[in-house]
Amino acid sequence: MHLKFPMTLMALMIGATGMTTAQAYEGDWKRGRVYYRGVCTTCHTAQGSSPISPNARTMDEWSAYLKADKHAGGKDTVSQYVGKAYRDSIKESNKAAEKYADVPDEELMEDVRVFLLKGAKDGDSPASCS
Ligand code: HEC
Repeated sequence: MHLKFPMTLMALMIGATGMTTAQAYEGDWKRGRVYYRGVCTTCHTAQGSSPISPNARTMDEWSAYLKADKHAGGKDTVSQYVGKAYRDSIKESNKAAEKYADVPDEELMEDVRVFLLKGAKDGDSPASCS
């Protein structure tokens, strides 16, 4: 009789934890910042016309941009540069890509998203690119 209650409680707790994980992943802005600066900015500085600071746009503008998922004037997508395949292709020479090589695409995308929103012009802590 003594054992029954704790077991039930444990089952409930495991069930509840499982549910939260499946429901929503909360982005890690610190990881997003490392990735944005290490991968996105590195390329913008090398190939683009400017480094593209998070604080160059508002939260609404970033949300709309990421939702549309059209990058470099629609030439390709933002999600492609977050994806595992891209990380794999540059990880030999890129520390951030190597560090997060095994992070699921959706999680890393969410990390980058929360970093950009936080660093937006009207975000919690407007951030430049470096
Ligand atoms: C392989 C190089 C490369 C990588 C990696 C890259 N970009 Fe870009 N990005 C560009 C180029 C080239 C442009 C277009 C020229 C410009 O505006 O500087 C651009 C433009 C942009 C723009 C300006 C609007 C637009 O789409 O034209 C944003 C915002 C942007 N990139 C976000 C990102 C984010 C977020 C990541 C990382 C997840 C990323 N980029 C990764 C090369 C890259």
